[in-house]
Amino acid sequence: MASQRSSRALRLALRQLSGPRVQQRTFVSAVNAASRPAVKQAAVSSFVQQTRGAKTVDFAGDKEKVYERDDWPRDKLLDYFKDDTLALIGYGSQGHGQGLNLRDNGLNVIVGVRKNGASWKEAVQDGWVPGTNLFDVDEAIKKGTIVMNLLSDAAQSETWPHIKPMLTKGKTLYFSHGFSPVFKDQTKVEVPSDIDVILVAPKGSGRTVRTLFREGRGINSSFAVFQDVTGKAEEKAVAMGVAIGSGYLYKTTFEKEVYSDLYGERGCLMGGIHGMFLAQYEVLRERGHSPSEAFNETVEEATQSLYPLIGQNGMDYMYAACSTTARRGAIDWSKRFKETLKPVFEELYESVKTGKETQRTMEYAGRKDYREAFEKEMEEIRNMEIWRAGKAVRSLRPENV
Ligand SMILES: NC(=O)c1ccc[n+]([C@@H]2O[C@H](COP(=O)([O-])OP(=O)(O)OC[C@H]3O[C@@H](n4cnc5c(N)ncnc54)[C@H](OP(=O)(O)O)[C@@H]3O)[C@@H](O)[C@H]2O)c1
Repeated sequence: MASQRSSRALRLALRQLSGPRVQQRTFVSAVNAASRPAVKQAAVSSFVQQTRGAKTVDFAGDKEKVYERDDWPRDKLLDYFKDDTLALIGYGSQGHGQGLNLRDNGLNVIVGVRKNGASWKEAVQDGWVPGTNLFDVDEAIKKGTIVMNLLSDAAQSETWPHIKPMLTKGKTLYFSHGFSPVFKDQTKVEVPSDIDVILVAPKGSGRTVRTLFREGRGINSSFAVFQDVTGKAEEKAVAMGVAIGSGYLYKTTFEKEVYSDLYGERGCLMGGIHGMFLAQYEVLRERGHSPSEAFNETVEEATQSLYPLIGQNGMDYMYAACSTTARRGAIDWSKRFKETLKPVFEELYESVKTGKETQRTMEYAGRKDYREAFEKEMEEIRNMEIWRAGKAVRSLRPENV
């Protein structure tokens, strides 16, 4: 699409988006304001009956209960967890985001990591105090009533024989991914039968969990119950979801969480989109386009202009905001891409469900030279022409000059 057209689309979109921020208004007015009447009429009418605070929302005809932060004001959270010690094990991306949010929410949270490892040092930098709220893994688990296993998925499996005996009756085991218990044949994570096992899976990086919370916003998360021995596991999972900084939560199962997550990241979230970028870029280059033109038409315009608009208002809005020429071709070709790619997505889902993806992940993460092998792959990607061209394009953004 020509840059003139995209900047016209962007101007139009910005005009439509100006005004008070969505989160400051009611759900109904936000929906109405963000939707162009001509294109959104049908979609709006299906959930316009909903008002903020309502618990059942119509997602395109599928009515689903949603759980919001508003249902759990801070006082209620503090009261709910007043007798708990939340022992957060592992301080990677999620540990950092969830841990700091819990701490800022005033909950009794402690961190457990390997003494003097990279995470220990990071935790100290973030203000966790050794002996007060920072301990080694064993000590933290022993002190915790809710044990949040936020080790890397490979480490969850590796450390399980050691950790399992410490998960005694009365404790709750918390995950942010269904990976370990669902693929227990491979991970060997067989949970004790006398404890609640719950999950809250933020739909984004732990860094985003933190930044959205600090902005007064909240990440979307799913929650699930694997095992409920107290009869309170579901309520506890929702409360934990709000406590770690979720804005709204939807219910899932451990299986569905892990299948959709592994599938999504291999597909549209990362693997699929990278494959599309590479294919489009290579054809442009083979047809004589310069790296700068090929990158701009493939990645820069997508990430800087069009994708944010889709995120803000949906695909129909994007089509309505572009030129007739762009719209006609994009709608036509979307069908072709869908038909061509759907079998690949079917194959991918099957590969996830059968545990083939898990097997590959475990083998990869279990390699002694894992870090070197990963760095080698990153080096190859970094050195691809497309990403080198991207670096030059980004350096020309006015804010970077
Ligand atoms: N990252 C995301 O965007 C994301 C999103 C949603 C859900 N999740 C889920 O959240 C969980 C945590 O993910 P993450 O990305 O935050 O993890 P991560 O960054 O990979 O976490 C690594 C943590 O595990 C520790 N660790 C690694 N090997 C260990 C071992 N053998 N013994 C003890 N500690 C070990 C590390 O400690 P050292 O520094 O001492 O090595 C570090 O604290 C996972 O289940 C993941 O699937 C992640």
